[in-house]
Amino acid sequence: MYKIGLLGAGTWGIAIARLLSNCGHDVLVWSALEDEIKELDSTRRQKNLPGVEIPQNIRFTADIEEVCKDKDILFFAVPSVFVRSTAKAAAPYIRRDQIIVDLAKGIEADSLLSMTEVIRSEMLRSVFIVALSGPTHAEEVANDIPTMIVSACQDLEIAETVQDVFKDSCLRVYTNPDIEGVELCGALKNAIALASGISEGMGYGDNTKAALITRGMAEIANLGKSMGCYEQTFSGLAGMGDLIVTSTSRHSRNNRCGHLIGQGIKPEEAIKEIGMVVEGINVLPAAINLAKRYRVKLPIIEAVNNIVNCGMSPEDAFKEFMDKDNNSEISSTINYEHVLLQKGNHTGMKRVITYGTYDLLHYGHINLLRRAKALGDYLIVVLSSDEFNWNEKHKKTYFTYEQRKQLLESIRYVDLVIPENSWQQKRSDVHEYHVDIFVMGDDWKGKFDFLKDEGVEVVYLPRTPEISSSQMKKDLHSDDNGDLESQINHDDIDTDPS
Ligand SMILES: NC(=O)c1ccc[n+]([C@@H]2O[C@H](COP(=O)([O-])OP(=O)(O)OC[C@H]3O[C@@H](n4cnc5c(N)ncnc54)[C@H](O)[C@@H]3O)[C@@H](O)[C@H]2O)c1
Repeated sequence: MYKIGLLGAGTWGIAIARLLSNCGHDVLVWSALEDEIKELDSTRRQKNLPGVEIPQNIRFTADIEEVCKDKDILFFAVPSVFVRSTAKAAAPYIRRDQIIVDLAKGIEADSLLSMTEVIRSEMLRSVFIVALSGPTHAEEVANDIPTMIVSACQDLEIAETVQDVFKDSCLRVYTNPDIEGVELCGALKNAIALASGISEGMGYGDNTKAALITRGMAEIANLGKSMGCYEQTFSGLAGMGDLIVTSTSRHSRNNRCGHLIGQGIKPEEAIKEIGMVVEGINVLPAAINLAKRYRVKLPIIEAVNNIVNCGMSPEDAFKEFMDKDNNSEISSTINYEHVLLQKGNHTGMKRVITYGTYDLLHYGHINLLRRAKALGDYLIVVLSSDEFNWNEKHKKTYFTYEQRKQLLESIRYVDLVIPENSWQQKRSDVHEYHVDIFVMGDDWKGKFDFLKDEGVEVVYLPRTPEISSSQMKKDLHSDDNGDLESQINHDDIDTDPS
């Protein structure tokens, strides 16, 4: 049995409190609204969960110190706009290494922080924070309808602790280390649900809805990949799962709010009519700013923002969307790779870098590339440009830089090929591309040890026995190739003139 404090007594907070209590945990619920606490305690009903009885052993308090103190786990179940103020008020009573679970879905408008980041930014001590997210309508969970959700935390043990808390309930919990991706999906799917509702309210059909869900997911995934999130998250429960339920369910207030807007009701009035938090509306400014920050297009979310915040009619917004330039479903991976590397070690990927001319691409090279890749997860080959080869390495090549690049890109061990234009660029490359391991053949042994000062591991791999580019070229062109080969000994080259 865990001692649990739950902050926020809305529909989701009460549905989760009921579940936790039925799992045998000791649950104390807090709300900022004293009247709400009194009503919940006396009636044992939550006004938006008709027919659901709140178990007698759930206790209520309006004292934030009481709800935070001496608890194994704290759940934050307030709407996103109250997460910061609630975390600030709770912070003095939260102990070091406290496990906190965030249930709110959103992105803070000014800071562009996720909800777990907002909570962490208010804490006075180090804590563990999990995001719990997925296709989970409170109305169904409160009636014990089988539901699946994701416990997201980079620390797997903590994610698993939260997984265990719900054992033997209607909630099956999966873990996911990609907390950033999980939270991004949870926040942005509400904006897509608004779009789906708007199209329904305008009288459009299932084709439109299916397309908005599919392209909406592509939008979220494009942004997420640019931020360094895991691709699998987007097809998972917190991604596609939550997007489907929010965009189609009658329980979805974002979908319902969109429906009203699509029927011509002003957004402010539609929100009033829903009477509960509509997170899709709250998240729009943050989504637009994230798109700008990561230079990603979010056409559906931008259309919804034009309707909700810029006074555009749903008809004009749809027309503008449909008239956009031709597009392809298959997007370039360049942006993803660029950002993946920019993100540094955030993704937990080990990056390996190696340098060379790779003119006569042969088994010795492929063997080296295979072994280099085996040292990590992502292999960058820095390929001598034609000018660098000629001016600095004093080597003539058979193939141009572009041709050699194409050869390397056709090898599955190679993830990225970039040009080498100077000896000095190695120092900046290892930082710019967040390199963990620098690899060269052992004919260069010791020549790049200076890179250890930059915090990278330097590895010299033994050359494949009896294979030498020079010898091969000589053998293949024994009549006239003498002048094509470099006569330069590696020992003669100063690799770090700086
Ligand atoms: N309802 C669901 O099915 C569901 C499912 C998963 C996640 N969520 C997420 O959980 C969060 C809460 O959703 P909900 O459905 O419970 O919303 P809700 O509209 O039912 O919550 C309102 C509650 O917010 C609290 N509150 C009001 N003013 C406050 C203040 N000034 N400071 C602190 N708290 C205050 C009160 O307890 C009030 O009951 C949202 O971010 C939502 O996206 C909801």
